[in-house]
Amino acid sequence: MKTLRNKVAIVTGASSGIGRVTARFLARRGVRVILAARRAEELAILQREIELEKGVALAIPTDITDVNQIIQLEQEVIATYGRVDMLVNNAGVNCNTLVADTPLAEITHLVQVNLLGAMLATRVVLPGMLKRRQGSIISIASVGGSIAVEPLYSATKFGLRGFSLALRRQLQGTGITISVISPGFIRTPMNAYYKLPMPGPELIARTVVKLATHPCREIIVPFSYVVPIWIEQNIPWIIDRFTDGLGIKLPYFSKVTNETRTQLSCKSISHE
Ligand SMILES: NC(=O)c1ccc[n+]([C@@H]2O[C@H](COP(=O)([O-])OP(=O)(O)OC[C@H]3O[C@@H](n4cnc5c(N)ncnc54)[C@H](OP(=O)(O)O)[C@@H]3O)[C@@H](O)[C@H]2O)c1
Repeated sequence: MKTLRNKVAIVTGASSGIGRVTARFLARRGVRVILAARRAEELAILQREIELEKGVALAIPTDITDVNQIIQLEQEVIATYGRVDMLVNNAGVNCNTLVADTPLAEITHLVQVNLLGAMLATRVVLPGMLKRRQGSIISIASVGGSIAVEPLYSATKFGLRGFSLALRRQLQGTGITISVISPGFIRTPMNAYYKLPMPGPELIARTVVKLATHPCREIIVPFSYVVPIWIEQNIPWIIDRFTDGLGIKLPYFSKVTNETRTQLSCKSISHE
């Protein structure tokens, strides 16, 4: 895409954090932004805020775990603007529980939001893009999609990266670009309980805007995370040293039951 003015972009997970700021940044560049997430009120507020800045936005409440709502989202966008030029697969949920403690329904939900939702949304917008031989799909993965730390979350983000990187190859020469952003810790409601210093969502929003006109296989932001990712891929035992017993040591694993904690403590001790 050479210019963003009047392009039509769907941003999933636009009601909060990275998606919210990304939608605003795109609208400031003249993009007509479709705000998709479950919380209708949040989306309506954002739509008004964008309109007050003379931008164009349309809130379409959507649950990304429901394939019919994804299809309806695309149909509403086509009915209003005639096409989808850009999809930002951003909707996501975190998971901080030990696998042994996580309810089965929560695992299904995590995969549906973080991975399946993005795959289905991509599948739904692709035919139109292929017909016009033009389009941009940007997926928000995570450093957790390259460094395996939280098993359930990492599984979805490894999956999203794999899907996007392979799709990029499948679509080479079609005019459609596929880019991945792998953020490290970003200050958003998703990880409000972490005390670490971290950059705000504007960093990712700026990256989305850049990738819309200058696509790239994958961008890791902040750039400093390139180092631990390289270590994970080349000398992973060093990362093992840091993560040994991580599940029971980190205070944010607040949902860990005492029983599991004890079991894991025993396992960890018996390793030593
Ligand atoms: N923050 C970080 O440190 C970080 C790091 C790496 C990657 N990421 C990724 O960045 C993306 C955005 O995260 P964030 O930090 O901005 O988190 P956030 O503030 O919690 O926002 C998550 C967004 O996902 C939406 N969402 C959740 N379930 C949904 C569903 N079923 N259907 C539609 N939308 C749904 C939420 O909207 P509703 O609740 O209104 O549906 C919300 O708008 C996620 O994919 C996350 O994994 C974040």
